[in-house]
Amino acid sequence: MAGAQERLKSGVYMETGVRPTAAFGAVATSSSARSFLMSCRNLGAMAVLALGLALGGLIGGLAAAGGAWAADNQAGGSGEPIVIRFSHVVDESTPKGIGAQLFKERAEARLPGRVKVEVYPRAQRYTDEEVLVAMALGDVEMAAPSFTQFRSFTRAMQIFELPFMFDSVDHVHRFQNSDIGRQLLDFMLPQGIQGLAYWDNGMRVISANKPLVVPDDAAGLLFRTEPSAIFQEQYNRIDVATLPLPFRDVPDAIRTGLVDGQENSWSNIYSRGIHKLNRSFTELDHSFLGYMVVTNAAFWSGLPEDVRTTLESVLKDVTTEVNALAQRQAQTDRDKALGEASITIVTPTPEQLDAWRNAFTPVWQDFEGQIGQEIMDAAVAARH
Ligand code: SIN
Repeated sequence: MAGAQERLKSGVYMETGVRPTAAFGAVATSSSARSFLMSCRNLGAMAVLALGLALGGLIGGLAAAGGAWAADNQAGGSGEPIVIRFSHVVDESTPKGIGAQLFKERAEARLPGRVKVEVYPRAQRYTDEEVLVAMALGDVEMAAPSFTQFRSFTRAMQIFELPFMFDSVDHVHRFQNSDIGRQLLDFMLPQGIQGLAYWDNGMRVISANKPLVVPDDAAGLLFRTEPSAIFQEQYNRIDVATLPLPFRDVPDAIRTGLVDGQENSWSNIYSRGIHKLNRSFTELDHSFLGYMVVTNAAFWSGLPEDVRTTLESVLKDVTTEVNALAQRQAQTDRDKALGEASITIVTPTPEQLDAWRNAFTPVWQDFEGQIGQEIMDAAVAARH
């Protein structure tokens, strides 16, 4: 089998998908990008997701348009600061929300008058399902979507979704710092997306209104999940139906009974009040919610070199702080959730965990062809 680098170059990990159409080509300007995506939003979240999948193949073509736009946006010519719009979907109090704000403060302090960072939290600007398309269209310069959002650009990123692949945050970090983990940051370059860093949130907890101790307890329920073919398959295996919805819609979906339960990290659960909507939380820790901080590659490479290297240095420091904070917050937000609402937290015994593991892990086989054996092996090897 060819090495990861060769396959990266040959595009084997990319979703080549649908070719650009004339209609899509007409929207590659910042001003029209937002209204274009907003009209897609009116068609519903799934339409936007489908559009994202279609644009997986288009984005590389738009990188050239992004280059021209990047040149326009640079300081120097007009003397105006370079504007970096950083869009994300979570609360300002979560690790990602705090990280985006820290990045803004530090970048503006280190590059006074040269860089202005505008942070758009809580999907004010775009949902995660929309943001990579918006980035390709030149309406956002930075984002940090959950790993699940990259599937349409590279199937390799699904490694982070495999249930029980990563047994701890340290394991995730060892893989991210391996050769292959670092190469993954460049896997979407052909589509104009540059990965800059990995940010953590935490291990996923599942919730419903009844205790989910073993897989059979969940049979027949409907869960909101992120848009992941792996999550869908893993839950199908235990007779749980899944509904992918944007993160901002999760509390309402539970409140109105549209879904019975969900899975997320403690900081997302606490910050959106999910601990007040579901009664029982099982610390399954079957997968890790993390992010790739990404930018439009043409924009980034078009920055003046001193600006780019300063931003990279700021991001490196912020990443260390976000990841340390995420570990602490996973514990403190769990404790706060327990203190504020009458919830039960189920900690499965080793035998009960085995039952979940045995139910979920057969999906590895279904997806190893898409992810690539070399990446699977590297993730397993990072375990110790
Ligand atoms: C996020 O943490 O960015 C969102 C995760 C989710 O959609 O559940």
